[in-house]
Amino acid sequence: MANEAIKADTSVSQLRCIGCGRVALPDRFRCEHCRDLLEIVFPGWAEQGPAGLNAEDLKQLWAGRQSSFDPADRSGVWRFREILPEITKQKVITIKEGNTPVYELPRCARSAGVEELFAKHQGMNRSGSFKDTGMTVAASFARLAGYRWVACASTGNTSASMAAYAARGGLHSLVLIPEGKISWSKLSQSLDYGAITCQLKTDFDGCVRVLNEVVQRMPVYLLNSVNPYRVEGQKTVAFELLEQLGWEPPEHIIVPGGNLANSSAIGKAMREMKQLGFISRLPKISVIQAEGANPLVRSIRENGGEKLIPVHAETMATAIRIGNPASWKKALRVIRESEGTVEQVSEIEIAIAKAEIGAEGIGCEPASAVTLAGLKKLVTQGFVKPHESVVLILTGHALKDADFTLKFHRGDLFAGTPLESESEILKGQQRAPLVLEPNVDAVIDLLRSAEG
Ligand code: F0G
Repeated sequence: MANEAIKADTSVSQLRCIGCGRVALPDRFRCEHCRDLLEIVFPGWAEQGPAGLNAEDLKQLWAGRQSSFDPADRSGVWRFREILPEITKQKVITIKEGNTPVYELPRCARSAGVEELFAKHQGMNRSGSFKDTGMTVAASFARLAGYRWVACASTGNTSASMAAYAARGGLHSLVLIPEGKISWSKLSQSLDYGAITCQLKTDFDGCVRVLNEVVQRMPVYLLNSVNPYRVEGQKTVAFELLEQLGWEPPEHIIVPGGNLANSSAIGKAMREMKQLGFISRLPKISVIQAEGANPLVRSIRENGGEKLIPVHAETMATAIRIGNPASWKKALRVIRESEGTVEQVSEIEIAIAKAEIGAEGIGCEPASAVTLAGLKKLVTQGFVKPHESVVLILTGHALKDADFTLKFHRGDLFAGTPLESESEILKGQQRAPLVLEPNVDAVIDLLRSAEG
């Protein structure tokens, strides 16, 4: 069945190869001629705009939907359905994803050396990460196409999200995760939502290799981020962000880089918004990787992005522990056309940045904190100027990796690692839980000493 083409309405959107430009069948992931990735294009937009509407009409239509109670309008993804592939309403699986807040981060701004800093917090999605925005579209497409099984390899967030959508949509789901390399809270989510969850004795890249074979041989729909429908859903984040900013693009958007689909999706959205007349210039989109999981940074620095240099990935920011990112070409295109850049940050820098975002009362998971750590470097280098507007994309909720946070505050995060002595500089930010007798005076003494 995986080899049978499904019939879909191609009058609105088409799948096209990013390499040779050939049109592909709607449920494929790679071009059958050159094996490059596919992306969704909307041939009708050039003539008459999405659904025959111009940018001003669309802005009004989308704003109006915010006061509607229709489930599609309540979703922060389907509210923007004119810029998505068409999916029959009855097939849509939604858990009211999107609609995530933009927060101002004044203390992080000071720490990074910029006047104003905002975070678009995608961790405030229903399953706790940005994955929901893409998953609602791709899981709905799986249902439309008649698949009974969906599957993904994951560092934990994709699997949590996929399991949730599969459960809501009456689909079976298969999760492949690297054994011992993802956070327990993410693992617990896929169990809770009923996925068949396999821990493979390999890393994320190994899980991807196995799954790619499985989906060739079984009628299972792949929901990894090479899935072009996921990219479409993730595009809406950028539309929502621009709406929240009064359709005035920031100078910079900073995104964590793992498999590199999120930066690709945000860049695709910006490109489309410019083509459609929503905005007149592109924000610079920069991608930050962990030093130990830096294939894009290395490839750009060592060969100008000519070819990917896969690495053996190692970082405590387990969500982005990825050495062979599938969407690197798409991300590279986004960085180039938006005149953004790439940077890498150390484990200690990630831990500091995560604590700073937490201390704003917001919090995020370690992979998201690379954005603030990276911003600091970009300001130091002069790539980001202090007066320029910057939006960090925070991708996962603080509770996604509570273990990391507890270890940080207890001072255990780097214990027994080569970074142990360097991690002394974290002391000022650590607030280990205190154990006291149940005694009023003891608590009051503590309060006084904390005030003084
Ligand atoms: N931040 C978080 C919290 C993530 O979970 C991921 C990726 C990324 C950033 C990187 O995004 O891959 O689009 O560049 N997590 C995937 C997963 C790989 O399986 O959950 P990307």
